[in-house]
Amino acid sequence: MAILNIIKAPDPRLKVVCSPLSKVDDQIRALMDDMLETMYAAPGVGLAAPQIGVNKRIIVMDVARHDEKPEPLKLVNPEVMSASDILLVREEGCLSFPQQYAEVERPETVHIRYINEESEVKELQANGLAAICIQHEIDHLDGVLLTDRLSSIKRNIILRKMKKLKKLG
Ligand code: NI
Repeated sequence: MAILNIIKAPDPRLKVVCSPLSKVDDQIRALMDDMLETMYAAPGVGLAAPQIGVNKRIIVMDVARHDEKPEPLKLVNPEVMSASDILLVREEGCLSFPQQYAEVERPETVHIRYINEESEVKELQANGLAAICIQHEIDHLDGVLLTDRLSSIKRNIILRKMKKLKKLG
């Protein structure tokens, strides 16, 4: 296992539309383990493959609270099959935007289909934080970032801060 470097915005590698996988092999399983380790170390609740420079449709997440048993999820080719009409506004962060938080509106519940690490097709109904996180991470696979969900004023404030952070190194 290894901790990988997380790409920080702005970066063109975060704007790429990722391609689906045809199968899950040992190399992908090892990559997902590294992604989880990287996410826990950050610490964060979700990480998408493009954030570590891999343009594949893979996400990992764990929204269990700190005092609960870990619930790691490894999702390949995740797809939203349906979403609730009820929308929820919640503050989101992103490991590619350290120390930046913004309110985003998304469906409260989503039903998704994905491939697990045994290459089996699975379905999952998510709500609350899990639903937010899944939608945020699937956005990454389409090159859509937290800032793309904000008004241009809020987006520019965050992007200016990120450029300043990058200059400070
Ligand atoms: Ni993110």
